[in-house]
Amino acid sequence: MFVCICRAVTEEEVHEHCSSGCRSVDAVSERCGAGEGCGTCLERLHQIVNERVATSTTAA
Ligand code: FES
Repeated sequence: MFVCICRAVTEEEVHEHCSSGCRSVDAVSERCGAGEGCGTCLERLHQIVNERVATSTTAA
């Protein structure tokens, strides 16, 4: 499922960027451009990244 329509970025891609070290929406945006268009996806991007950061913190 696409999370960012403007840059055609899927939720799976965002998860992959989180898995490879991204810990913020800015970091994800730098890699794939998600969130750099209209901004509609930013709330969902924050949710995904925050969930991943919280999970990786508790798993460590
Ligand atoms: S939907 Fe992501 S910037 Fe527009």
